[in-house]
Amino acid sequence: MRIDSRHYRTIWENADGSVEAIDQTKLPHRFETKRLASLDDAVAAITTMVVRGAPLIGVTGAYGLALAAAVDPSDSALEEAHARLAAARPTAVNLRWALDRMRRLLLSAAPSDRRALAFGEAAAIADEDALCCEAIADHGATLICAAAAEHPGRPVNILTHCNAGWLAAVDWGTALAPIYKAARDGIDLHVWVDETRPRNQGASLTAFELSGEGIPHTVIADNTGGHLMQHGLVDLCIVGSDRTTRIGDVCNKIGTYLKALAAHDNGVPFYVALPSSTIDWAMRDGVAEIPIEQRDASEVTHISGLADNGAVTRVQVTPKGSPAANYAFDVTPARLVGALITERGVCAASEAGLRGLFPDLA
Ligand code: MRU
Repeated sequence: MRIDSRHYRTIWENADGSVEAIDQTKLPHRFETKRLASLDDAVAAITTMVVRGAPLIGVTGAYGLALAAAVDPSDSALEEAHARLAAARPTAVNLRWALDRMRRLLLSAAPSDRRALAFGEAAAIADEDALCCEAIADHGATLICAAAAEHPGRPVNILTHCNAGWLAAVDWGTALAPIYKAARDGIDLHVWVDETRPRNQGASLTAFELSGEGIPHTVIADNTGGHLMQHGLVDLCIVGSDRTTRIGDVCNKIGTYLKALAAHDNGVPFYVALPSSTIDWAMRDGVAEIPIEQRDASEVTHISGLADNGAVTRVQVTPKGSPAANYAFDVTPARLVGALITERGVCAASEAGLRGLFPDLA
């Protein structure tokens, strides 16, 4: 995607063998990149959310393993690096998927070949992710076009939660990709952007992306969606996913489930966009089985933003001493999901639906 008329991906390889990533902790106030020169740097980038979003976490994990292989390509060092990276964030399955793919390939090769192989495979995973997201854009845009045809003469109103745009992937994104495609195809649309406390990925990142693409949008407090849906102000919802089970249960940023309930109650289609690397074929019941990350309570007790003097400041919004809980994700049962938008097409959120599109993976 473009920033100041230059095309950027979220992560890339430097000529000196290090890796560079857009530092998402600084957005939307400052556009900075961060150099990842070691396994430690990659682990830290994932845990501190310099990079975030399931597909991008997976790609960063792959590059982290490549950085580790450059220092010590032995079996034991790779296993240790794999374990450290896998533990960096527990919910998004793309991380595990990318690390397992890297490990399979590297362990099948001689140690002396592993460094080059590892960087090549990480780059392949990144390229494939960008292609998957572009295909998701095409498939999802047809749903938006259909909604536009139902409501001629006014913009299609789409609600999204968290950030599942190009910053969450390598390029294009998942939930925002169909929006970009439809907008480029001339569809008149407007996006309701959930702010997405506690980390404000919607207010900070989705709004940043949509502004960059010139797409009309309005940031709303997280609790607003139900009201908008009751008043006919949302035509469809599209969100991303951090892990989708084989029966179509969707784990995504905390608060997604409440939006799906409100959508169901108001007859608003609720779509989830995801690449197949987000499907956990080993899991069925998302509520019972998906590990939900709990992050530091300070993300809830404090917010950060731009002060009038231009400094990025962190302020406390709770009384000192009030305990806070910080569940990062929740699970929306498949019955509340209207359809899944994948790189191979749109399917029902069910085992049959997923199997129909991915018989080779199921
Ligand atoms: O905690 P994050 O920011 O890494 O959460 C990831 C998300 O942004 C998701 O909610 C998103 O919808 C899925 S990733 C495309």
